[in-house]
Amino acid sequence: MKIVVIGGSGLIGSKLVKNLQAMGHEAVAASRQSGVNTLTGEGLAGILQGASVVVDVSNSPSFEEKAVMAFFETSTRNLLSKEAAAGVRHHVVLSVVGVDRPPQNPYFRAKLAQETLLQKSSIPYSIVRATQFFEFFPSMADAATDGGKIRVPPALVQPMAADDVAAAVAKVAVGQPLNKMVEIGGPNRFSYDDFLRQGLAARNDSREVIVDPKAGYFGAPLNERTLVPDDQTETGPTHFKTWLGATRTPVEN
Ligand SMILES: NC(=O)c1ccc[n+]([C@@H]2O[C@H](COP(=O)([O-])OP(=O)(O)OC[C@H]3O[C@@H](n4cnc5c(N)ncnc54)[C@H](OP(=O)(O)O)[C@@H]3O)[C@@H](O)[C@H]2O)c1
Repeated sequence: MKIVVIGGSGLIGSKLVKNLQAMGHEAVAASRQSGVNTLTGEGLAGILQGASVVVDVSNSPSFEEKAVMAFFETSTRNLLSKEAAAGVRHHVVLSVVGVDRPPQNPYFRAKLAQETLLQKSSIPYSIVRATQFFEFFPSMADAATDGGKIRVPPALVQPMAADDVAAAVAKVAVGQPLNKMVEIGGPNRFSYDDFLRQGLAARNDSREVIVDPKAGYFGAPLNERTLVPDDQTETGPTHFKTWLGATRTPVEN
């Protein structure tokens, strides 16, 4: 069947397109690179012709509060209205574990708005909430660096490999719409500080990681269990140590 991957040139999207093609589906990558812009609607009607499923793994180029909300709301509205016209039967979105748990950050609020628009639409849907990708650890470390030291809150994480995220999303995309949210996570739970420490050590990065109850997550407060799944349906098999050994240069996200 024809499956359109919105954000198909991105980290998850490019892996997802390959997975779906390997499963024998006509997977088509759609993003600005290929003339499809979900913000303006450009190219959407054409790419959706004959599509059974749309998987949205796009991301906002800006994480600034207003810009990120505008991106996920406008893109999702445009997608859903064009999908209804094209007769799309299943819309899958990749979201983040914890987006509905207070205290939210602006990015989480925008992802929750994206989920809510989908839940209210007439298109059958599946929401896959994933934990942080291993590939995201350098960004997490850089965002928490102040004066050469990394300060993180006393929180838990359960990260997973982007390859495992793509495999789990592919499985959902080819199945029946779930019309609910499912959570996926990695095989191990770490303290936030230990996760970063292990990643940095493997990259010979000597920055000190300090647990600081006043530290936030990308500038917003974070509770101990905000980022870990409550009721995980799928566990990515790849362990962080294995991934660190296999990827010398982590992909910046
Ligand atoms: N990072 C994490 O740890 C994490 C954890 C859980 C869930 N997620 C979710 O995973 C999703 C995918 O993340 P990712 O890291 O794979 O993203 P990414 O690598 O940054 O890719 C983003 C994609 O969005 C496309 N895009 C941006 N603006 C667009 C527009 N106006 N119209 C059409 N396409 C547009 C980009 O392509 P062009 O530039 O060609 O348009 C690109 O293909 C995100 O929604 C994120 O919320 C992330």
